[in-house]
Amino acid sequence: MNFHTRKWVKPEDLNPNGTLFGGSLLRWIDEEAAIYAICQLDNQRVVTKFMSEINFVSSARQGDIIELGMTATHFGRTSITLRCEVRNKITRKSILTIEKMVFVNLDEQGNPAPHGRERIRYADEAFARHLERSQTAARAVAAAPGALLEGGEEADHEPEEQAAH
Ligand SMILES: CC(C)(COP(=O)(O)OP(=O)(O)OC[C@H]1O[C@@H](n2cnc3c(N)ncnc32)[C@H](O)[C@@H]1OP(=O)(O)O)[C@@H](O)C(=O)NCCC(=O)NCCS
Repeated sequence: MNFHTRKWVKPEDLNPNGTLFGGSLLRWIDEEAAIYAICQLDNQRVVTKFMSEINFVSSARQGDIIELGMTATHFGRTSITLRCEVRNKITRKSILTIEKMVFVNLDEQGNPAPHGRERIRYADEAFARHLERSQTAARAVAAAPGALLEGGEEADHEPEEQAAH
């Protein structure tokens, strides 16, 4: 599991008990998980479909630094399932776990669409693919400079690649 994102617990993140407010933490987790799914599926149109029970194991206090960890546990046809853990960065004490978060890959009409992925992709693979696409596009422009203007749209028009996890 990769722990990419760190958060510094500030006064505005606290509940009346003086510990980290669960709602703030869940917002951070949902965003982190969505970014993970976007990077893995190479599509910005992903939505949260399902979250299993959330186990708040221990609390965090003002000034604590926490880190959010994600890993993909299953690649379905249109969905991806993630596991999440949040822990204290310094002590490594677990704060929360979510065994199952399901995101669905959507097409332009908002319908579930097959994503074609079967395994975790790493950042260097995503970067290599990005380079390959850029070079292919550059070669196409060099070979037929007027084609983009005439066609109105690039042949290989895909969303810009995100850095994958
Ligand atoms: C996401 C949405 C389009 C899926 O529609 P749907 O009719 O459930 O689609 P499907 O039945 O084809 O299921 C799509 C995928 O989700 C999975 N899925 C559906 N319900 C599930 C559940 N309760 N638990 C786990 N996975 C589930 C299916 O197994 C399928 O995955 P697969 O193709 O990898 O097997 C629709 O439910 C929706 O728009 N929900 C609202 C999403 C949202 O607004 N989220 C919050 C903001 S991001």
